Amino acid sequence: MQNEGKSLDNLEVQKVIRIRDLSFQYKAQKGEKALDGLTLDIEKGQFVVIMGSSRAGKSTLANCLNGLIPNFMKGKYEGEIIVMGKNPAQEKVGTMAKDIGLVFQDFESQLFATNTRLEIVFGPENFNVPRAEMQKIMDRILKVVKLEGMEDRQPSTLSGGQKQRLAIGSVLAIQPKIVCMDEPTTDLDPMGKLGVFQIAKELHQDRDLTLIIIEHETEEALEADRIVVMDDGKIVRDGKPQDVLREVEYFGSLGLMALQVPRYFHSLGIAQAELPLNPEAGLAKFRELGLGIAEDKYAGLVRKDEEREQTYSDPIIAVKGLEHTYPNGNNVVTHCIWRLANNCQSRRFQLDEVATSWCATHDD
Ligand SMILES: Nc1ncnc2c1ncn2[C@@H]1O[C@H](COP(=O)(O)OP(=O)(O)OP(=O)(O)O)[C@@H](O)[C@H]1O
Ligand SMILES: [Mg+2]
Repeated sequence: MQNEGKSLDNLEVQKVIRIRDLSFQYKAQKGEKALDGLTLDIEKGQFVVIMGSSRAGKSTLANCLNGLIPNFMKGKYEGEIIVMGKNPAQEKVGTMAKDIGLVFQDFESQLFATNTRLEIVFGPENFNVPRAEMQKIMDRILKVVKLEGMEDRQPSTLSGGQKQRLAIGSVLAIQPKIVCMDEPTTDLDPMGKLGVFQIAKELHQDRDLTLIIIEHETEEALEADRIVVMDDGKIVRDGKPQDVLREVEYFGSLGLMALQVPRYFHSLGIAQAELPLNPEAGLAKFRELGLGIAEDKYAGLVRKDEEREQTYSDPIIAVKGLEHTYPNGNNVVTHCIWRLANNCQSRRFQLDEVATSWCATHDD
């Protein structure tokens, strides 16, 4: 027994967050509560993904963790939170910054310095980090959030994704024990999103750091130790990603979109415990079930797209040979050729539009 001989007190210390019966109602809220009797423990070194529909109370919970609620955002606060042994409701928000760093959902409001460098060193400077140490922190953070070479850029000139990574970097620079990111991938394309989860993965290797990411249903959540699902200010699921993400119907009942791969196999009637969760496992299951692409359906979709293209009217925007280089030498557009027709829509095939059903294959 690994924990034999340790006192209960020692075991309790491992819980870096303890929440008991937490309720919060914003001043402007009538009737409903943003958080409603929420109880949750998070252990040191865990990587927890919090999911839930819009208005479930995820951001409210995040703001309670560092004391923004109830110290700055007022309302009716009941219950108790202990973060790294402190009650954030009774501490100054600045005091909590070394314990928990929060990357806001509205990350642009977090950026205020005149350049990337100052944005990153602001936190450490406030904690009197020696100058020699500062450069090391700067180099490490720029590397982690992939903003090397952008030290002198004004944050307002960064792209949305770069700003989002800068907001993450400015929080990491303080080296808090817990990092909570509230929807850190909203402004990112799929590669950028992957990049943030790559950062999360690297951070997670340091088992001293506890990582909480609030995100919508995403395959990357499979990397987490635990998924917590919120609804109406309460926790409705708390478990291993492979268990929680297979609850396709339950996700639907909460108004959430389950991952596409388990959703597709669920629609074929595959038992919940056997639902594949990622594309690789999905492909293996696809083959195991003897499924294939229905060539006639696929050809039909291609034909429909071709017919749709015929209906497009004259271009309303046409770009040819466009190039642009910013004064700092960043070349962002190189010889772009692009046309947008009046009633053009982008479209991609869904798996269930082109795959034959299990029954159809076996009837053949
Ligand atoms: N400043 C505020 N004043 C009044 N009500 C608020 C305030 N902020 C949030 N709420 C309400 O509290 C509830 C929970 O909101 P919260 O922002 O925590 O949800 P969320 O789960 O983060 O949603 P989303 O996924 O859309 O970000 C919602 O009903 C929301 O309207
Ligand atoms: Mg939110």
